[in-house]
This record gives sequence, C-alpha cells and structure tokens, in this order.
Amino acid sequence: MIHIAIMGLGTVGTGVAKVIAENAEPIRRKLGEELQVKTVLVRHFKETPYRQLMTDDFAEIENDPEIRVVVETIGGVDAAYEYTKRALIAGKHVVTANKQLVAEHGCELLQLARKKQVSYLFEASVGGGIPVLHPLTQCLAANRIDEIYGILNGTTNYILTRMVQAGASFQDALAEAQEKGYAEADPTADVEGIDAGRKICILADLAYGHQVDPAQVPMDGISGISLKDVRIAERAGYRMKLLGRALRLPDGRRTAYVAPHLIPVSNPMSGVQDVFNAVMVRGNATGEVMFYGKGAGELPTASACVSDVIEVLQASPQRDEIGWEADTEGFVKPDVLSSRFYFRMLGSLSEAVSAFGSVEVLSENGETAFLTDAITGEQARTFSETLPVQACFRVLA
Ligand code: HSE
Repeated sequence: MIHIAIMGLGTVGTGVAKVIAENAEPIRRKLGEELQVKTVLVRHFKETPYRQLMTDDFAEIENDPEIRVVVETIGGVDAAYEYTKRALIAGKHVVTANKQLVAEHGCELLQLARKKQVSYLFEASVGGGIPVLHPLTQCLAANRIDEIYGILNGTTNYILTRMVQAGASFQDALAEAQEKGYAEADPTADVEGIDAGRKICILADLAYGHQVDPAQVPMDGISGISLKDVRIAERAGYRMKLLGRALRLPDGRRTAYVAPHLIPVSNPMSGVQDVFNAVMVRGNATGEVMFYGKGAGELPTASACVSDVIEVLQASPQRDEIGWEADTEGFVKPDVLSSRFYFRMLGSLSEAVSAFGSVEVLSENGETAFLTDAITGEQARTFSETLPVQACFRVLA
C-alpha cells in the first residue's frame, strides 16, 4: 500500500480523492500496489466522506514516514509555499495544481526538490486536464520553441462563449462558471487575465529555461471587451479570445503577455468553446502542435494531479529535465511585437485613415472600426493614448 496526503479539500483536492477511489484498479495495476489517501489537511473540519482522514496540523503529514507523496491543492502562496518546502525537506514528493506558487517560486522549489532527491511536479497547473507540460519538456525536447499561445483560462473562455452564443450577461456567465467549480476563489484573477498570466509564465519558464517573472508580464483580461466589438469581429471573420502568448524573438530575447485577441475563424483556436483550453506550441522542427481539452474543473484537474502522483512513484530518480534558471535576463515587454490591430474609435473613418494610413474597414451601424496594417504594440498604445480610441485589440496572424 502506498500512502499519500492531500493538502486542501476544495474542488481539486476533492477531485483527487475521487479519482484515486474511482480508478483504484487501473492505478493499482500501474503501481503494483494500492494507492491510498491517508491524511487530508484542512483548515476547518467538515462532514465529508473524508472526515476520518482530516487533520488541521501539517506536522502530522510532515512527520509521517508512511506518506511518500503530498498533493498540494491549497492554492495561493502563503501556507502552500511553507508546507511545500517543509514536505520537500522531509523527503516527500510534492504534486500541485497551484499555478501561482509555481509561477512565483517554482524555480526555487524545483532546486530544493532536486537537492532532496524527490520530485516537484505540476502538470495540473496549466491547462487543467490537458497534458501539456510533460510533452513540452519531453516529447518536444528536440526543438527550439519559437512560440506558445493558448486559451489558458477556462472561466473566461466559458464567459465569452456564453455571452456570444446565449447572449448571457457577463455576471450570469461568471456565476455559472463559479457554480461549476471553474473559477478561482477570487474570480478577479480569472477575469483580469492574472490566472492565464501565471500559466503562460510557467510554459515560458519551461520552454525558454529562464524565469519569467509574473510581475513583468502585461496581463489584460476580458472586462474591457464589449459585445459590440465581439459582434463586429464575428462579422469580419474573427473570434475574440483571451490568449496567453510567449515568443522567442529573432535575436533570442523573449517576451510574454496576456490579452484578448481577434483570431481568424480559420485558426482552430477560434473554435475552442466553453471551459475548454487549447495550447499551441511552435517548435522549429515540429512546426505547430496543438493540445486541447478541459482546462478547469474537479475531475480533469484531478486527473493531471493523480497522473503526476503515479509518475513520481514510478520515476526513479526524479525527472531532471524539469527546471529553469532563476535569472530573468533577455525578457522584454511585448511592445516590440508587430501585428495587425483592431480599433474602434470615435470620429470618422477619414480621421482614422489620416492617422493610420491604409486600414481594412469593419465599420457598421455608425461605428468607426477597422484593422490596421502591422504595427508594434508600442505604436498601438501611442495611438490609443492620443486618439479617441474606445477599443484596441491585437489580431493573431
Ligand atoms: N480558474 C481556472 C480557470 C482554473 O478557469 O481556468 C484552472 O486553472
């Protein structure tokens, strides 16, 4: 019998316990022994099927030599950071879905894990149930990764989908996403692009081998998107999606950001609906590879956590290809990136043409809306500050 502990019994922690119980037999076949949750760390005792396993004292897990793996689903940084360090120091493998902790402290925690000859794995931190970190670091290891972009937040994709398809209000769609367990405890992190930002940082850390500091990554969410722009974009053959994007520039510098984009409907990313996420990775040998699946929710996220548990118990020694340098050198803001931009502004089209030169006109119902030729992010910002611009979004080529 192999014993593990779960820290935190929210949506993901409960899902981990359920997946281990429901899939006990296939898991036993893979490990050669039964996998059992021995202890569950909670802040408040609640009447759940796991009541007998609960403790509110982390030391019980830390000092239990039978517990080989700790699944951290507390979320946030404070307690999660402290307990993760202590679990690793105690010689236990740690598996997590905690993107904030990995984005901010992953480099240090991986170094600590290596020193203690245990593993720190976090497949569930990006893309929920989609296996993407493991393929990125293993199956695509022969590539130089030139670009990654993706729909990395299930809540905002759900909201955008419900707004467009069912005419739901932003608030109603958000409430539905919260009911289904997709949203963060504080959904501001979803809506304002912060959650997607943490995930693109983790992808970029692994792809480029250097720390990408979330504080340096511009993150725009969906609160500035109006249905007017969504509809104009749709009629012109584009879909509005919130993307996290990381690129390697031709000179070797790197950038990353999160922002709503207009995506041509010919790009499969435009068809990603509801809570689904998708990640496109462009390697210099493979070209584009796309990953698709449920990006949030109890069982999909738990699937990734439990798969990591199985892996750390099978892998010997720990996986060394996971990790990156602590320095952030070579990171630049995305202002340098050129692309076409969508603008909607007050004033006439002739004013737009005199400011931007040639534009592709999308105007309708008296709105002045258009696509520019390729301009840099910095130019787009300058135009937004100096003209009566009401909406400005990048267009994905
Ligand atoms: N709140 C996140 C989302 C959960 O909606 O994608 C999965 O990380």
